[in-house]
Amino acid sequence: MGNRTFTMIKPDAVANGHIGAILEKINGAGFRIVALKMTRLSTEKAGEFYAVHKERPFYGELVEFMSSGHIVAAILEKDNAVEDFRKLIGATNPANADAGTIRKLFAESLGRNAIHGSDSDENAAIEGSFFFSGLEQF
Ligand code: CMP
Repeated sequence: MGNRTFTMIKPDAVANGHIGAILEKINGAGFRIVALKMTRLSTEKAGEFYAVHKERPFYGELVEFMSSGHIVAAILEKDNAVEDFRKLIGATNPANADAGTIRKLFAESLGRNAIHGSDSDENAAIEGSFFFSGLEQF
């Protein structure tokens, strides 16, 4: 492995009409879209997805935001996918993100930061399987 990552276009970027521009940036950076779906998370499902952050002070706000509107989930393929994708999206806080990164271009704030990217190969596999069946991951 090492060649796949998982991403979610978050409710702020979907509501602001940035799905097309973000997918174009992703393709333009050399990622192949393996799986793609638009859906909406219930508060229960959002809480489950972000369970690792359960003890953080921002957990409630995060779960509320992530279930506030539609999201676009995708599995992406490229050599060195996890690391290269995190470079493409930029720092978690858009105020600290480099020029040209997806968060610099489209994110509103630390909480409403437009897009998610997995932080390890292991989490990419877990997060991809949260949204997509085995058959959908070819
Ligand atoms: P992401 O890395 O996709 O997943 C965890 C999210 O928690 C992160 O993006 C931020 O959007 C969010 N987050 C991190 N720190 C804070 C914070 N201090 N307040 C609100 N949200 C935060």
